[in-house]
Amino acid sequence: MNAGETAIIALADASKSYGAVRAVRDTSIAVRPGEVRALVGENGAGKSTIVRLLAGVTRPDTGAVLVDGEPADFHGPADARDAGIAVIYQEPTLFPDLSVAENVMMGRQPLAAGRRIDRGALHDQVQGLLDRLGVRLDADQPVRGLSIADQQIVEIAKALSFDARVLIMDEPTAALSGAEVERLFAVVRTLQEHGAAVLFISHRLDEIFAICDTVTVLRDGEVTHDGPTSELNTDELVRRMVGRQLSQLFPKQAAEIGETVLRVERPCCTSRPTPAQARARATCSTSTAASPPPTRAERGLGRVGRRCDVGAFRRTARKLAVERARKAPPRIA
Ligand SMILES: Nc1ncnc2c1ncn2[C@@H]1O[C@H](COP(=O)(O)OP(=O)(O)OP(=O)(O)O)[C@@H](O)[C@H]1O
Ligand SMILES: [Mg+2]
Repeated sequence: MNAGETAIIALADASKSYGAVRAVRDTSIAVRPGEVRALVGENGAGKSTIVRLLAGVTRPDTGAVLVDGEPADFHGPADARDAGIAVIYQEPTLFPDLSVAENVMMGRQPLAAGRRIDRGALHDQVQGLLDRLGVRLDADQPVRGLSIADQQIVEIAKALSFDARVLIMDEPTAALSGAEVERLFAVVRTLQEHGAAVLFISHRLDEIFAICDTVTVLRDGEVTHDGPTSELNTDELVRRMVGRQLSQLFPKQAAEIGETVLRVERPCCTSRPTPAQARARATCSTSTAASPPPTRAERGLGRVGRRCDVGAFRRTARKLAVERARKAPPRIA
């Protein structure tokens, strides 16, 4: 990525209001070939509005959308798609009863003699795209039953089939597991190596630092930072997003410490105890204070039990919870 290179897609001093809400104000953002750019901001900062402007879903009130440095007048998403802009949303929008290949080439299936779909060519084209992305997905398998992560890969393959030059991903990782995020990142890097640009939106800041070269920070619809990700650390990024220091985000509140609600003594936290631990487990004991009401203590016990995931400790915890419930004064309806 070269900072001097003409952006594939850009917004120049664009504003967009919804009634009295000024979602985006005099905003400029540019996505260049081979760049993975982050777009970050708090909820309601205007990220998705920018996505809608770049994807031709909506038009700016003032300012312009530029494609390859020239003003573009998108009348709908099809215009943006023809300009090489594709959007991958958090929830894929595929036809579950059709195959991966049919979804990717929907409406553009290769035809054989007699205008029948050429299944062999369809498979080969789409399998080629999936292989290019470096993913193990069968073009002929039905979409129903694929994970959200796999469905997103199908959406990316679909974007490539349209020769997309910029992929805009609006919170693609929100519903993915750690391993799935890693695989998506591998696909993003492959796209980048092939010269495509990515605009990546996420609330998970560690992902921004892991995958993005540059970052645009939004606050209340305005850009507060635009530059290489390496120039910022997490605290500075958050400060630009929210307008104050990270330490002030969750200021320490004065709180009155009450009576003991729960006390756990010598908990046993291994699933396969050594003989010494087994002996210790036999003497595990727990105790709680008599008040405040038991439900809170029980909830706390439940959490501890889940986190430790240990049979003996959980059994102890359950026993305690039952005991507390029994001791609890009858509730008045
Ligand atoms: N169609 C709409 N009608 C009215 N107000 C809207 C509309 N779309 C967005 N807004 C408002 O514009 C502002 C920016 O919204 P936007 O969805 O762009 O934020 P966002 O940064 O994507 O937030 P999030 O992180 O929650 O997805 C918000 O105040 C939102 O309520
Ligand atoms: Mg959004």
